[in-house]
Amino acid sequence: MSGKLATRLREGTKQSHSLAENADFIQCFLKGVVEKTSYRQLLGNFYFVYTALEEQLTQHQNHPLLSQLYFPELYRQQSLATDLSYYWGPQWQTAITPSDATQRYVDRINDIAIADPILLVAHSYTRYLGDLSGGQLLKKLAQRGMSLPQGQGIAFYEFDDIQTPKTFKATYRQSLDSLHLDEATITRIVDEANLAFKLNMELFKEVEGNLIQAIGQMIFSHLTRSRRNRQTPWSTELGDPTALQPQD
Ligand code: HEM
Repeated sequence: MSGKLATRLREGTKQSHSLAENADFIQCFLKGVVEKTSYRQLLGNFYFVYTALEEQLTQHQNHPLLSQLYFPELYRQQSLATDLSYYWGPQWQTAITPSDATQRYVDRINDIAIADPILLVAHSYTRYLGDLSGGQLLKKLAQRGMSLPQGQGIAFYEFDDIQTPKTFKATYRQSLDSLHLDEATITRIVDEANLAFKLNMELFKEVEGNLIQAIGQMIFSHLTRSRRNRQTPWSTELGDPTALQPQD
């Protein structure tokens, strides 16, 4: 198989993307069921993941290849801190601890940063392109689902230093494509991106417990039953996320 990295990643993670979109927690989210206990737990876990990722990307900013993907305007650590302070209060830093799945995700990032740093590309791709895509829909759903006051609790989805996500994503993809990589490395990066999706799904699975407790098992089963294993229209035709509407 050949091709540039951006296309290889997109094609090579299509199935993982579809599975992630269909994760029960995400399905509830898409149906407007967003609940503060599980949501703030997820944000807390993300804080550890993004901190590890961003520390490693910064540490490798002069790496011959990773330097071409050094985009601190994507960084989420500060915006997560803002949201965490909103959801947990000023003592948020002592309130959050990494869950088991979070620790596995963090360990993986730190391990590859030592053993095979180019694989950090896969983690950057999986989270940031996701945040710039479906993330924009999730922002609206979070606002509505938790009845958030205007401008509060949604910093995670806001990229102040990026004017248009669409243009930025094109630049990011060009940077992926401009990396001179051999076939074996491309394959390893795509495999790592699939692992990154899996690690994300494990995070979602963990917070599901809190969500079920909050909304009740019966409602949860009802919300997740009908859509299981179905692809959403945008997973086959990755189009404009602003045009997305959750389906019944
Ligand atoms: C709420 C569920 C989700 C929706 C509605 C959604 C929607 C989308 C859309 C519409 C795109 C295409 C953007 C474009 O072509 O510019 C996209 C791309 C992407 N999404 Fe998602 N997504 C969701 C969940 C996720 C999750 C959970 C992850 C990762 C953990 C993720 C990672 C990505 C990545 C990496 C891309 C870039 C694909 C590429 O062009 O290479 N998405 N998503």
